[in-house]
Amino acid sequence: MKPLNIVIIGAGMYVSGRGTDGYGTVMPAIGEWKRNNISGDIQIVGTSRESVGIARNKIDELKRNMRVEIAIRYFPEDEDYNPRCFREVISKISKPAACIVCVPDNLHGEIAYFAAENGLHTLVVKPLAPTLEEVRALIEVQEKNKVYCAVEFHKRFDHANLKLRDTILGGVIGDPLYFLVEYSQRKNVPSERFKKWVETTNVFQYLGIHYVDIIYFATKAVPKRAMATGQKGWLASKGTDIYDSVQGVIEWEMSSGKKFSSHILTNWIDPENTSAMSDQKIKVIGTKGRFESDQKKRGITIITDEKGIEEPNPYFCSAYGQKGDISYRGYGIESICRFLDDVVQIEKGTVRVEDMEGKRPTFKESFVSTAVLEAINTSLENAGTWITIDKYKL
Ligand SMILES: NC(=O)c1ccc[n+]([C@@H]2O[C@H](COP(=O)([O-])OP(=O)(O)OC[C@H]3O[C@@H](n4cnc5c(N)ncnc54)[C@H](O)[C@@H]3O)[C@@H](O)[C@H]2O)c1
Repeated sequence: MKPLNIVIIGAGMYVSGRGTDGYGTVMPAIGEWKRNNISGDIQIVGTSRESVGIARNKIDELKRNMRVEIAIRYFPEDEDYNPRCFREVISKISKPAACIVCVPDNLHGEIAYFAAENGLHTLVVKPLAPTLEEVRALIEVQEKNKVYCAVEFHKRFDHANLKLRDTILGGVIGDPLYFLVEYSQRKNVPSERFKKWVETTNVFQYLGIHYVDIIYFATKAVPKRAMATGQKGWLASKGTDIYDSVQGVIEWEMSSGKKFSSHILTNWIDPENTSAMSDQKIKVIGTKGRFESDQKKRGITIITDEKGIEEPNPYFCSAYGQKGDISYRGYGIESICRFLDDVVQIEKGTVRVEDMEGKRPTFKESFVSTAVLEAINTSLENAGTWITIDKYKL
């Protein structure tokens, strides 16, 4: 096979760990994937020379820590600021090529569309897009250009969620009656890390969407209606007029015609000294039993004078080894490496793009999570009224 070129759009926290002690998830995954010597160029596109410069420093450090040699070109190269730079890079890249889109939510649709239209296999961080209109257009362009396009729903690779899926689909706990999800993160996420674009999203869209996808993945049920309510408090008091917390209720229908509900409670105003980045739990009660998964308390507690009590999640994106010999493992790494492996198989002709449906979080699969998200956002704007999800069918 010819070399596979990779272009990454976005150079922020998730790509390079900018603004954190770590190195994000995308570049550690690319570092791991490159260990297998699959050749091809890597290009990273941001909006300004200054911001990609910060990412470059982080990534240089990461490469030394991992002891991987990868040549990377950063854009914009000759201009101080150019938010349209991705167009030039994508249209010039030689194929086969894969694109990883990792920019603020409101730009996912436009950039992913451009990548697919230019014949690039494309992975987009969640949510694919906040509206069904955008998702419909994205599916159309993906099919027309016969490229493989997926959403980076990494929780589908978490063993705890695979166990949840098998438990439900295997009938072990009978028919699901209700799901309860609690998912929250620290105050600095909306107030510092995403300050620039936080007002274009909300906490359900940022966190809740993950479990909407997991419930769909684990049940294959169809969402029928949704409602949501939210509270403004701490963030509003700091001058950002957005919800501290959003709670959504979704009614689903199984292929058997039986219905269940899911109650997804989210916030991003957890104290800074909470013991984990993500406080996350899911439980489902069925007619024959229950399944409970504490996805915050993964069994490790580290207590130090410096940092107090920490309960890290070793299963998402964790560094193992010492500087100069570090490898990254976890479901975040697997999700990105799997996409690239799939692209290689498609390019070799050993699998077809259509074979991915039902097996991976393809653009088509994410029609469900966006249908729910759109209903939740509409309900929030309409005093919590129930919104029927009748636009589900493509
Ligand atoms: N941070 C996480 O843990 C995480 C996890 C999963 C998914 N995500 C998703 O990833 C996306 C980005 O999150 P982040 O944490 O990296 O945010 P961030 O604010 O740290 O980074 C956003 C990046 O997008 C770049 N960007 C903005 N407009 C652009 C344009 N026109 N062309 C090229 N680059 C552009 C910015 O320069 C910046 O580098 C969001 O949709 C978020 O929901 C983040």
